[in-house]
Formats: sequence, structure tokens, C-alpha cells
Amino acid sequence: MSKTRLGIMASGGGSNADAILQSCADGKLNATGAVIISNNKDAGVHNVAKKHNVPSYHISRDMFRDGRQFADKLINIFREHQVDLILLAGYMRKLPPALIRSWRNAVLNIHPALLPAHGGKGMYGIRVHEDVLAKGDKETGVTIHFVDEEYDRGPILHQVGGVPVYPNDTPEKIAARVLEVEHRAYCEAVQIWMDKHN
Ligand code: GRF
Repeated sequence: MSKTRLGIMASGGGSNADAILQSCADGKLNATGAVIISNNKDAGVHNVAKKHNVPSYHISRDMFRDGRQFADKLINIFREHQVDLILLAGYMRKLPPALIRSWRNAVLNIHPALLPAHGGKGMYGIRVHEDVLAKGDKETGVTIHFVDEEYDRGPILHQVGGVPVYPNDTPEKIAARVLEVEHRAYCEAVQIWMDKHN
């Protein structure tokens, strides 16, 4: 069976991208990193791309006169690299609807909480974990969901709960505990997707 070709979009350090590409390299995932796109030219994810010999591009909306040209650029890059599945891994920008339509049911995003809790507009990064603390939750977790035009509200593909929240926790401590689970959960989610689509 041919390997599923992954297109990864990230804005930051890329530890999720690294975990997924490492699983591919270790033969744990029958997939391969085809291309990485970041909206941030200095993002650490470009170093992750180099480590795994995956081409990476800096592409951001402000490089284009209009949204259609931006969408076409993303679509063309993913088509050139024959991407089957697009993974958002800390990608902090809106996706053009044309891209979502071109990869229907093949765009995933990871959210560092148990959606629908602690999700929606403005709920990203450390704010998610601040909300977990503020609401007094005793545990948290990770959600991988399909990306549709409604963004954080796409159908859930995989969730991993049971991440403890301790009384004297800080948002940063929770974030670090959850991030470790993200790395495993995203790989599991890619496997679940491949089992459904191959
Ligand atoms: C993760 O916390 C993820 O849940 C969120 O953005 C962060 C990405 O981290 N969407 P990294 O760049 O993969 O290390």
C-alpha cells in the first residue's frame, strides 16, 4: 500500500510535526511528510522540516493581493507534492475555504483540550489552559478534529482525556503535560484516518 502523503501547516516550533515525522521515519506510521508550510519565516518548524528532509515553504496571506491568490498558492503547493492529508499543527491563521473544499474530510487540526470545552474563538495556546484552570476542571486532554468552514467545530476524529490538573498547577505546567499527549494522540489520529481512507 502506498504511503499517505502528509502536508503539515504550522506557525511555531513544530513539536507536533516532529513527532509525526519521527513516527513516519520509525515505520510506526505508513505515511511520509510531503511538504510543510508556515506563515512564519522564522518558525522552528522549518528546522523540523530540514531534520526530516521535508521541503518547507514560508507562505503567508500578506504576500498576496487577494485571498484567492493565497488559496491558489496553498492548493498548488499541496497538489505539486501530491498531498493526501493536511495536518494543522499549531497553525494560527484562518484556512481559505477553497483549500478546505479541495481536501474535503482530509484536513485535521489538533486542539489542546477536550472540545467542545475550552474551544472556539480566541481559545488557543496558553488561553486554553488558563480556561481549564479557571473552570476548575480536574482533568483535561487533547482533541483532533476535522477542519471545516466552522473551524474549531468540525467533527471530532480522536480524543485523549485523563490528563490530570493538579491544585497548584499553572497554565504552563498544564500546557507541557498536554503537549506530550498531543504528540501521541496526533499520530493515533493519523492512523485512524488512514484506516478509514485506505
Ligand atoms: C500545540 O499546543 C497545539 O495544541 C496547538 O498549537 C501548539 C503547537 O505546538 N494547536 P507545536 O508547534 O506543535 O510544538
